[in-house]
Amino acid sequence: MGGLFGVRAAGLRCARGPRDPEPARAVRCQCPDPLPFKGGPSWTRERTLVAVKPDGVQRRLVGDVIQRFERRGFTLVGMKMLQAPESVLAEHYQDLRRKPFYPALIRYMSSGPVVAMVWEGYNVVRASRAMIGHTDSAEAAPGTIRGDFSVHISRNVIHASDSVEGAQREIQLWFQSSELVSWADGGQHSSIHSA
Ligand code: PPS
Repeated sequence: MGGLFGVRAAGLRCARGPRDPEPARAVRCQCPDPLPFKGGPSWTRERTLVAVKPDGVQRRLVGDVIQRFERRGFTLVGMKMLQAPESVLAEHYQDLRRKPFYPALIRYMSSGPVVAMVWEGYNVVRASRAMIGHTDSAEAAPGTIRGDFSVHISRNVIHASDSVEGAQREIQLWFQSSELVSWADGGQHSSIHSA
């Protein structure tokens, strides 16, 4: 059996064991639980909040965003379209309330529906930030969502949590736990395979 459970069944772990005489093999983590990789990166399974902002929804970019995250191999565990309540936006952007752009930011985020999503996967917080690109669209690299679809920081299409702690806070703010669905991909996870 290939994929997730095949590797588990073969006794391969994400970390090299002390008796493994081989050079590190390109075995990517197949495991649903976090396993430390001795001397290397940890394959911590995380969740993050991603929100397509009102300009992204207006411009019909929701499908493209979902496709990018799915193709990368992340798992969608929550999604809803909503007109964001001002109380949620105020809490979400609480650290920015003294910034000169804060009133404009709240007006922008209230100007239409947003699509809020929770994505799950290994290092999804860091990877999502790389996928959406620099906050300032002018600095965002081509190939990133902002680099492909946005020209100005005040209409930068998408939000993604900037840390694991921030993601936990934001997910709790935007979603009830009953709105999140844990599901397994049956070992068919396209981006996880053994070498
Ligand atoms: S800061 O000033 O460094 O704390 O801000 P930054 O981390 O770059 O961005 C935090 C969020 O504020 C949004 N932002 C803006 N919105 C509208 N207009 C302007 N000028 C502006 N500058 C920053 C930025 O998109 C970030 O929002 P999220 O939702 O996290 O993308």
